[in-house]
Amino acid sequence: MSEHGIITREFAEEVRSAADIVKVISRYVALKRKGDRYWGCCPFHNEKTPSFSVKPDDGFFYCFGCHAGGNVFKFVSLYDNIPYYEAVARIAEELNIPLPQKKMSPAQIAREKHIEDLRRVNQLAGNFFHNCLTMTRYGQKGLAYFHQRGINEETIKEFQLGFAPDAWDKLSTAFVQRDISPELLEECDLSRRRPDGSLYDRFHNRVMIPIRDERGRIVGFGGRIIEAAQERQAKYLNSKETILFNKRQLLFGLDKAHRQIEKSGFALVVEGYMDVISVYAAGIHNVVASLGTAFTQEQCKKLLRYAPQIYFCYDSDAAGQQAIFRAIQVAREQENAIIKVVQMPDGKDPDEYIRKHGPEAFMTVIKGAVPMVEFQLQYIVKDMDLNSLEGRLQAMSKIIPVLLGLRNMAQRNAYVARAAQLLGVAENELRDELNRRGRNQGGYQPGAERQAIRAVRRQNEDANRRAGRVIIRAIWQEPAVLEHFVSQVPIDAVPDSIQAGILRQMAIFIKQGTTISDVMQFASLGDESVEEISRAMVEDTGGQDMMDLYQDCTRFLRKHYLKTQFEIHRLRAEQLSREGSSEFLEELELSQKIKNEMDEL
Ligand code: UTP
Ligand code: MN
Repeated sequence: MSEHGIITREFAEEVRSAADIVKVISRYVALKRKGDRYWGCCPFHNEKTPSFSVKPDDGFFYCFGCHAGGNVFKFVSLYDNIPYYEAVARIAEELNIPLPQKKMSPAQIAREKHIEDLRRVNQLAGNFFHNCLTMTRYGQKGLAYFHQRGINEETIKEFQLGFAPDAWDKLSTAFVQRDISPELLEECDLSRRRPDGSLYDRFHNRVMIPIRDERGRIVGFGGRIIEAAQERQAKYLNSKETILFNKRQLLFGLDKAHRQIEKSGFALVVEGYMDVISVYAAGIHNVVASLGTAFTQEQCKKLLRYAPQIYFCYDSDAAGQQAIFRAIQVAREQENAIIKVVQMPDGKDPDEYIRKHGPEAFMTVIKGAVPMVEFQLQYIVKDMDLNSLEGRLQAMSKIIPVLLGLRNMAQRNAYVARAAQLLGVAENELRDELNRRGRNQGGYQPGAERQAIRAVRRQNEDANRRAGRVIIRAIWQEPAVLEHFVSQVPIDAVPDSIQAGILRQMAIFIKQGTTISDVMQFASLGDESVEEISRAMVEDTGGQDMMDLYQDCTRFLRKHYLKTQFEIHRLRAEQLSREGSSEFLEELELSQKIKNEMDEL
């Protein structure tokens, strides 16, 4: 059921003020009290010393290690991977606060019911196939097949694996008898219709693998042939797409993998159902598959929500390696992705590798994953004849775009050396070629420099950012403070753009007369803003009085503001004087005034 329409901000606020954030989070994390806050090991990344903190007074949590932060609903929605409004509904239910009645149009009601029906039928089919495999004589062939592949009872249960009987219409007949409509069976692609209108099953004599969405609900099936006599048929049959099943979006296994992806910091992407099942059974749980289709931008974004790193581990044959090369082109579009490639020394796919060499050996192979660029270079030179001039030039022309794609100069330099080595050309030669092409492509270097400058500035901005957080917290606790702050520092002059955004939004709320009480009022500014506010509220202030601290920090930021103003007027004065304009005197005077105030502060 989707409650999206009925959870209003007011309702969320009511639930939040009734909820005890420490009690809720304690269910998932062992918390220890220290002063006015609680500490524990963060459930969102791997750590041994606690940097995860909860501040019950204001209702915030924040992790100083991975920067996850927000209110109690944000915690539950992150932890259980459910939408925010569902976390609100769940906690409301626990507290016996009735949900407001939803007003839906008849069309909406019909659509919701339809979706529920599709889910129910898919789940029933999952049970049907599973029971068939584990409890009937029809299923014995399937069971023998799984056993022969080394898949045990525990894994069969975990993935709810099943079997579609070697018969024409067992499922269709059973389901129609249970009053499930033929239309629904067709829509779920469990049955198809003969010309005479009667139904027959879509899957026969295949082992069945339920395909689940991110939240573990069955949305379709993959069915695999089990005997040589079937070899003229497709190895796998998959359900067609429905309103529940979008192949571009779906990653097989993500429902089980997401927590471990978050914990380990990387997602292992493999090609097939059986790879996911084997790797998972081997105890490596951060594994998903893109299911035969090319890896998509949507899938990539989905994974990056859980961890910044993606490791591709596809079949070691030529087709698999080419698929990796293409997946990399897709994944590198996402700027922050860190992409690696796992190369198996032998064995066609991860499933076979594990069966042959065992889980530990596979783990070692994963640890030896090579960075994306290394893989690209090797892939390009692999089939080239580097002994001929022709071949070297060809390889070089393919390698140069890869190198130009590297924005980080240190990284690029390192790979220029590596590429020169692989190509067997002098490093200088390659570097000259790179510079020539780089310029023709409109020049990349300025961008890199700007990035470097920004990085340096960011380091210096630590003190500014700390001050900014104190300001945010002071205004949160006492909105009247905002007016004083902007009289000292214009919001546009707050150096950190995230903080400036938060302050701007606060100013809007205060002007509208909206009470600021829930961090999710800032959700539209993005996760980083929600996290920054949480951090501001949870951060230790060393027992200092909040108003004293506020005064200090305002003075600090004003100094920073005056410093830039001074620079601006001084430069303008210089320029005017160069141009021979007498107005430079005014500018000079202004800059002197600013300087005086700076000295007094
Ligand atoms: P593979 O042929 O590599 O399958 O295709 P696999 O997982 O190693 O299968 P086993 O080990 O022989 O059982 C990879 C994926 O491509 C899709 C499936 O999702 C499969 O897992 N595929 C493959 C199909 O959809 N249809 C096919 O006929 C073949
Ligand atoms: Mn395989």
